[in-house]
Amino acid sequence: MIRSIVRGVGSSLPRRIMKNADFEGVVETSDEWIAQRTGIRQRHIASDDETTASLGEAAARVALADAGLTPADIDLIVLATSTPNNTFPATAVEIQNRLGMHHGFAFDMQAVCSGFVYAVTTADLYIRSGMAKRVLVIGSETFSRILDWNDRSTCVLFGDGAGALVLEAGEGEGTIADRGILAASLRSDGVHKDKLYVDGGPSTTGTVGHLRMEGREVFKHAVGMITDVIEATFAQAGITAEDLDWFVPHQANKRIIDASAKKLGIAEEKAVVTVNLHGNTSAASVPLALSVAVADGRIKKGDLVLLEAMGGGFTWGAVLLRW
Ligand code: ACO
Repeated sequence: MIRSIVRGVGSSLPRRIMKNADFEGVVETSDEWIAQRTGIRQRHIASDDETTASLGEAAARVALADAGLTPADIDLIVLATSTPNNTFPATAVEIQNRLGMHHGFAFDMQAVCSGFVYAVTTADLYIRSGMAKRVLVIGSETFSRILDWNDRSTCVLFGDGAGALVLEAGEGEGTIADRGILAASLRSDGVHKDKLYVDGGPSTTGTVGHLRMEGREVFKHAVGMITDVIEATFAQAGITAEDLDWFVPHQANKRIIDASAKKLGIAEEKAVVTVNLHGNTSAASVPLALSVAVADGRIKKGDLVLLEAMGGGFTWGAVLLRW
């Protein structure tokens, strides 16, 4: 059977690093409050010349180089983002043009922090249907542009950045020993739409708006939703937490990561944590974490890796793959 196999990975971060202490003087907060509640120590913030398209392009170029491929080899670009350069055209198309790619097709996916998990699952369907052989899956965000910098309960939590994977069609036996994407589950429930949202948009206010969040409500639902969708993914693949080599969760909050891993019986040392370095980069957080764990030698060819995310909507999902 056809499997979607990871061929390359890459990332890109804005030049400017903002440490927790740099918020003192911006809003009433402290390094201690932020670090204790979230595990975040610093985040990267885009300068005027850095956009979702430029960061996404840079991450894509690194992933292509890692794969030993060029844009000419790619059939499809799926960009997960909630902070596009423009309302339209899709930022994926802008990245396609920046890469000098004038064949194939490209589109954006909007599932907030679950965007990358949604995009990987979608790319896998295109590959398995035979409609695409090689797909660039990118998560790129500039959440700093939609933050209310006077709201200490949200502005300290997010950061900017991008990550990318190249997925390629390959042959598998149809067992979990295959390399590539093995199982995936996606969920959403709009009943929670007011717990984490942006208070503007083209069809309502005609403005971009700012991020609003009921942090405690998000926290309350996060662990249960994450563990449910992961258990469904384990059941699909016929595996247990012990079979995993690496758990690469959405990087919103260290306490949510720890509580989910504990509830699922995933050993602490198997969780890849980068929220301390990047903050919450929404759809970019999972590929950024993957890039770090591949670069430092943790994730290796043949490892069983679980991706997971939960975000505004709510949306949530998990992908199991063999690297
Ligand atoms: N610095 C200092 N004090 C603060 C700050 C801050 N940056 N932000 C809020 N506070 C204060 C509040 O005003 C409140 O003060 P009060 O008691 O005088 O009213 C107090 O701290 C406690 O506020 P809570 O919101 O109840 O704090 P909590 O312990 O719940 O932590 C947090 C807040 C970190 C946001 C937590 O709720 C959380 O992590 N929620 C999940 C959020 C999340 O992960 N979102 C992303 C998931 S989806 C996605 O990625 C898009």
